[in-house]
Amino acid sequence: MQTHEIVKRFREHFEKAGHTVVPSASLLLDDPNLLFVNAGMVPFKPYFLGEAPAPYERATSVQKCVRTGDIEEVGKTARHLTFFQMAGNFSFGDYFKEDAIRFAWSLLTNPVAEGGFGLDPERLWATVYLDDDESAELWQKIAGLPPERVQRRDVEDNYWSMGVPGPCGPCSEIYYDRGPEHGAEGGPIVDEDRYLEVWNLVFMQNERGPGGAKRDYPIIGELPAKNIDTGLGVERLASVLQGVDNVYETDLVRAVITRAEQLSGKRYGDDATDDVRFRVIADHARSGVMLVGDGVTPGNEARGYVLRRLLRRIVRSSRLLGVTEPVLVTFAETVRDEMGPTYPELVKDFGRIVNIVRAEEETFLQTLSAGSKIFDTAATQLRSSGGSTLPGDKAFQLHDTYGFPIDLTLEMAAEAGLTVDEQGFRDLMAEQRARAKADAASRKTGHGDQSVYRELLDLGATEFTGYGELTSEASVRGVVRDGQRVRSAGEGEIVEVVLDRTPLYAESGGQESDAGTIVADGVELEVVDVQKVARKLWVHRVRVRNGEVVEGQQVQARVDPEWRTGARQGHSGTHVVHAALRQVLGPTALQSGSYNKPGYLRLDFAWTGGLSEATRSEIEEVSNLAVRQDLPVQVVYTDMGGAQDMGAVALFGETYDETVRVVEIGGPWSRELCGGTHVEHSSQIGPITLLGESSVGSGVRRLEAYVGIEAFRYLAQERAMVQNVATLLKVPDAEVPGRVEALVERLRVAEKELERLRAAQLLSSAGQLAERAVDVRGVSLVALALPGGTSAGDLRTIALEVRGRLGERPGVVALFATDGPKVAFVVATTAAARDLGLAAGKLVPAFAPAVGGRGGGKPDMAQGGGTDPSGVDAALAAVSAEVDRALASR
Ligand code: ALA
Repeated sequence: MQTHEIVKRFREHFEKAGHTVVPSASLLLDDPNLLFVNAGMVPFKPYFLGEAPAPYERATSVQKCVRTGDIEEVGKTARHLTFFQMAGNFSFGDYFKEDAIRFAWSLLTNPVAEGGFGLDPERLWATVYLDDDESAELWQKIAGLPPERVQRRDVEDNYWSMGVPGPCGPCSEIYYDRGPEHGAEGGPIVDEDRYLEVWNLVFMQNERGPGGAKRDYPIIGELPAKNIDTGLGVERLASVLQGVDNVYETDLVRAVITRAEQLSGKRYGDDATDDVRFRVIADHARSGVMLVGDGVTPGNEARGYVLRRLLRRIVRSSRLLGVTEPVLVTFAETVRDEMGPTYPELVKDFGRIVNIVRAEEETFLQTLSAGSKIFDTAATQLRSSGGSTLPGDKAFQLHDTYGFPIDLTLEMAAEAGLTVDEQGFRDLMAEQRARAKADAASRKTGHGDQSVYRELLDLGATEFTGYGELTSEASVRGVVRDGQRVRSAGEGEIVEVVLDRTPLYAESGGQESDAGTIVADGVELEVVDVQKVARKLWVHRVRVRNGEVVEGQQVQARVDPEWRTGARQGHSGTHVVHAALRQVLGPTALQSGSYNKPGYLRLDFAWTGGLSEATRSEIEEVSNLAVRQDLPVQVVYTDMGGAQDMGAVALFGETYDETVRVVEIGGPWSRELCGGTHVEHSSQIGPITLLGESSVGSGVRRLEAYVGIEAFRYLAQERAMVQNVATLLKVPDAEVPGRVEALVERLRVAEKELERLRAAQLLSSAGQLAERAVDVRGVSLVALALPGGTSAGDLRTIALEVRGRLGERPGVVALFATDGPKVAFVVATTAAARDLGLAAGKLVPAFAPAVGGRGGGKPDMAQGGGTDPSGVDAALAAVSAEVDRALASR
């Protein structure tokens, strides 16, 4: 049975049983604790925790998941995938253990002709948590499983959580016996390779705190209701139903292996080491493409780092299979063809995906050659110093700076007959990982302990009134100080205030939060930030300017109208620039992030290579034409399907509710899913002026612009600058460029002339200096201090010139020049002097200490420097004395 068919049957089975079919969420759901969605239940977390009421009592989904905890295991076992699909059914306070077991059993064992998976009941086993007698009995009652096929396991295996704080509970797992050729008898407690876990039923009833993944965390409470969360590994079941040996050989994954066989000319199955490489490619190509599809770009922190690692491992594994040409685009095409039917965004967005993976591969291939050079140098040095172990920090540098995976360094070291200090490397990696983790966590708004907000949410969600009005009457639901609920807060304090309704926009969708005040009689709070918690609760961070804010108080919440006017211009301006960008560059230039506030906007988008000046002007022109056309701005409420039919642009990494808000500018000209505040007509945005465009990581560019009055101010400033220059040059504005060009040319000519004069002057000064030679035992000695500021280069030129003037005579030239606290010197000897045993390099130690310096060189020329200008006279005397001494001792 094909994977697509498995997914379809799963969905239909649960839809028939009254479950709402929920589409897969993005892999990048906002959760401060998780890098990627790692289970089907993640999007439903707020419902399990009671942070938001579940819009349905039962749901089913097939969720894309990424788990990158053990990348190294990929390809080595039969069942480790970094990307997989988890099919699940969920009950929010509705059915519990009995129905969960019944639903799972019937789907697994119903005949294929009747919509089931047709598994042989005799091959199925179950596990339950140690003391869960109830489930053990249910397995007997519903499935007729004999007691010996229901095994008990402890916390380690049969208690499930996301690995991080959140909902959790005991679970019951279903295993399929693949037969004696795969291992020993005795059920899953004996051999998890023979008995393959296909489905996990979690009886979700507790909430856990921080700690490790396995068992070292506290249970901090009961969930508001008893829930069901299940996860069926789609690829695992596919491996059973397709009768293949492992998940990599199932239809959708195997397609990538086939492509890699074609590229490499090698055959999967011929060689165990190569087979691991084939499987790594197949797995990573899927996770890599799915992550790029959901908006991750390769980088050096957190999510971007994981993606980079996956993509680079593909390139490296391909090289090891003997493929030298670029591979990522080809593999991405295969993944698109296989996964596109389920995830149409891969097809729609393929241009963007290709741009990103291609750029990453190009960078990595350069890296690979730069890193190889670094490696070779290090290896040579190591060998010449008699060592044989490459230090950990070298391996880390190769990894960190050049993106060299450690296995590559290990392999290259082995080829060169060296070993690597792997422990040192791993220690440095662990440090880096800790940094990345801290970074990922601090990126989020950091409402660490959510319980106080949950309490407030129980009183109801905040009503947002700000689309229609700027001032609203409201009452204070709660006051929070440092994460603790308090009754009141007084003057000067900074606290969080939750209202039942508010017109103040909370930061989201790239739009900065509103500025404003919350007031009551004798009370004034300045709003410094507004954030949404669980998408439902508006949390205002305020400074108490006057009076006291008290829970239950009636207040008036006010948006600063000036601010809001600017914010609307900023956000509508962002949509206009985005639409203009796509009109000029084509639809692959999709926004990957944005930020806007009054007067300013910033837009990151998928694109490789910079934009030309002409392209930038065109985008600016299209934007301003749209402003001039006074296009109407309209807000339409619809569902996700409706929005897609309208061609609205939905952004990755965002989560959307059942009802979505589409903002149109000029009808179809710009349509985006957006909750922001906007102008009513495009002309209200005012002028838009682009500031420039830059790179913010591979395949991502950033445009910045000023809008409205800020754009005017910026242009006015530029004009003032031109006028200033015109006044300085005493020409009309229009002649500034011509005049500057002429000036630059004149400057160039003047500099050349100056250079020529200086050279001539040096030569003539050399003549004068040569004339100042004194005789020391028949040798002409020119030992002089030149005027301060003579550069070391000039000093050398002059010394050589003076030596030239001394001709065939025995002669020694020693010149000094001081520059602030530094002294430079040059010593040069003629051939006749050298015949008398006077070597420049040997003279240096005699006088250098006098100027606090060192130096050295060859017999004909030596130079150096010191740090004590007061010693120049002593040094001059020392030169003379040394020449005298050397000649006397002949
Ligand atoms: N959430 C459970 C799991 O991921 C079903 O195994």
